[in-house]
Amino acid sequence: MLEESQISQKFLLFEERFGRGEVIDAYYAPGRVNLIGDHTDYNGGMVLPLAIEKGTYLLIRRTELPPCRLYSANLDLEARILTSELEPKGDWADYLRGVYKYSSENCGTLPPFDAYYFGDLPLESGLSSSASIEVVTARAMNSLGCAMSPADEVKVAWRAENEFVGIPCGIMDQYAVAFAEKGHCLLLNCENMEHRQVPFNIRDCVLVVGNTGMPRNLAETEYRKRRLECGEALEALSARLGPRTCLSNVSVKEFESARWGLPDLLARRAEHVIYENVRVEEAARCLQAGDARTLGHLMNRSHESLRDLYEVSTHELDALQRISLEQQGVLGSRMTGAGFGGCVVSLVAREGLERYLRRTPGLYWQATHEEAEFTVTTPGDGARRLREAT
Ligand code: GLA
Repeated sequence: MLEESQISQKFLLFEERFGRGEVIDAYYAPGRVNLIGDHTDYNGGMVLPLAIEKGTYLLIRRTELPPCRLYSANLDLEARILTSELEPKGDWADYLRGVYKYSSENCGTLPPFDAYYFGDLPLESGLSSSASIEVVTARAMNSLGCAMSPADEVKVAWRAENEFVGIPCGIMDQYAVAFAEKGHCLLLNCENMEHRQVPFNIRDCVLVVGNTGMPRNLAETEYRKRRLECGEALEALSARLGPRTCLSNVSVKEFESARWGLPDLLARRAEHVIYENVRVEEAARCLQAGDARTLGHLMNRSHESLRDLYEVSTHELDALQRISLEQQGVLGSRMTGAGFGGCVVSLVAREGLERYLRRTPGLYWQATHEEAEFTVTTPGDGARRLREAT
């Protein structure tokens, strides 16, 4: 989180850029890291993400006349939204155009506004900066007279990403960002959206998110490919077991009885999804019971499965995961998110933290000649309004 004084200073910069006027409201939405359950959301499965303590801030003020004026301090870029012309322009503000468009489908015509974005969440690093900026904007529609339920905010944000920007993501990121609660992970069933807050009862551990620093070039194409493969696996399994709506509806026992009829590649993809789904529920039980050792074990199994069966890991992710696990006090470690770059999340005993942070960057550099960045976090708050200033 940013300091109060850093936020206050932005109110002045807002007025410098957009002029003085009506009340300015402030909103915040975090980034997320997924503790376990990757590539399960679009298969109707379980996920267990949490909000990290870094995110996107938005200062917003409604105005009389279009266009909407937007500024991102992190990118140092401006953009405009013409209310009469809500089409993608191919720039950073498309996420926000999408949110504005789908919010007005919920609430009717919305007034124009000025918006100033800033924050401490690294972009393009697999911590859901896009879900964070979408959800903070959806929540800020409150200031334009459009109060939506968190579930509707999630829908609007998800549509902005899928339908407007054209990135075929699942529902986990937007949900995590909107619903997260401090001190908890969110156990979400992505088939029916039932969810429950699971207390992070592992008091003597923290999570360390290590960013491999690698660009996620392949992420989008390979993500699309995995989704198609899962669709084919579902069809093949349904032909043998009877119709299923998603891979997560196939039990381990059913899968094991039917896997031999599947092409090897599809069997491996389905195996990851079906077993990962079971691991998520076990991980939630461990989290609640304070069983760090078993949780760590499940995280390691999850990484192996993403690496060997789902094939979305990279040399750098594997190196950082392996090096992390070799450090004293590390109970579990896994790649998190879509893969093909991005981050590794490790469960580290508080007493081993200082040593971990001292040793791991150098060892990672030796193995890959890349610089990793580390964020220590416990589960933080979800999206919220911060305050008003005049
Ligand atoms: C990305 C997507 C999510 C999810 C993860 C993999 O972060 O946005 O919906 O599919 O990959 O678990």
